Amino acid sequence: MVIPGTDTSFSAVQAIVYRTYGSPDVLRCEEIEQPIPAADEVLIEVHAASVNPFDWHFMRGEPYLFRLMIGLGKPKSPRLGADVAGTVVAVGRDVTRLKTGDEVFGACRGSFAEYACAPVSRLAVKPERVTFEQAASVPIAALTALQGLRDKGHVRPGNDVLVNGAAGGVGTFAVQIAKSFGARVTGVCSARNLELVRGIGADDAIDYAREDLARRAERYDVVLDLVGNHSLRAWRRVLKPSGTCVGAAGTTDPWMIGPLVGMMAAPVLSLFGSRKLVSLLASINPGDLALVGEFVASGKVTPVIDRRYALRQVPEAIRYLEAGHARGKVIIVRG
Ligand SMILES: NC(=O)c1ccc[n+]([C@@H]2O[C@H](COP(=O)([O-])OP(=O)(O)OC[C@H]3O[C@@H](n4cnc5c(N)ncnc54)[C@H](OP(=O)(O)O)[C@@H]3O)[C@@H](O)[C@H]2O)c1
Repeated sequence: MVIPGTDTSFSAVQAIVYRTYGSPDVLRCEEIEQPIPAADEVLIEVHAASVNPFDWHFMRGEPYLFRLMIGLGKPKSPRLGADVAGTVVAVGRDVTRLKTGDEVFGACRGSFAEYACAPVSRLAVKPERVTFEQAASVPIAALTALQGLRDKGHVRPGNDVLVNGAAGGVGTFAVQIAKSFGARVTGVCSARNLELVRGIGADDAIDYAREDLARRAERYDVVLDLVGNHSLRAWRRVLKPSGTCVGAAGTTDPWMIGPLVGMMAAPVLSLFGSRKLVSLLASINPGDLALVGEFVASGKVTPVIDRRYALRQVPEAIRYLEAGHARGKVIIVRG
């Protein structure tokens, strides 16, 4: 291991790289030069990472609008993976909040690797009682759940909350976080996941193949939609008069037409009547990471880990997640 600034040689590290957009077949496990942290970054020895739909959107360069940021014809950065947990092995010039040896978790660019750099503003110290795998499962999924329920939905004790997509990475955190806020939670999933969703605390679980949500008699204070398979009208129908639907689902439409129409229509529809339709783009910050880290350390929230894959198996891990039926989080471990 070379500490930047102390040696001019580079050691090689394993990383998943992609040089063209496409299916998981474009991913390669290769030796690359060990990354060097910028002034506000730390270098992390990665112990675990986790996979999010975000990663396959980067891999495919879809929706196409993404390419304005990540590279028009080919990816500007060949590295993939955001969620990370590991040990700080070197710090940038301006970093004072973290030091070598700290165990951290958060988000970076290129966590599917043995080493990755991350800005300090997207990291928190990992609580001792939380494993690296648990910590790696948290950043994008749990912060999406937290910010959707707390900041957009304003969930209060006694509220009725519906989580659409309750068995997935975000959904399994959302059910538990909503319960920890004192809500009564209904989770929507397939028949094979009803027990899982009840097991993590949902008061009720609905099989989407058997029940049409829009025709339910129950009404909800907050809906967290992680699937995007219902119209805005359908969501308004299941909301209580002062209820809020928080839309967080991504899209498989590369042109993003449906979601763009929805994003424009939601604020307009919210002007009529008291029901609110809002969208969410989660942001990774140290405060929320530390808060969820404490939830996990105290047992208030237990990450649901579906499968573990070795670094070289990232293509299989992404293929599995892309199929759309993960049960909780998919973790990448060293090896
Ligand atoms: N806005 C943001 O900032 C943000 C951040 C993170 C994620 N997201 C988006 O949020 C969504 C969820 O992310 P994730 O990480 O939880 O994905 P994920 O782990 O891949 O979620 C898969 C889950 O979706 C469920 N599902 C599939 N079809 C369903 C249906 N018709 N009704 C209810 N559940 C259904 C599956 O359950 P079954 O197997 O039981 O069908 C599975 O458990 C994605 O679209 C992602 O792009 C947005």
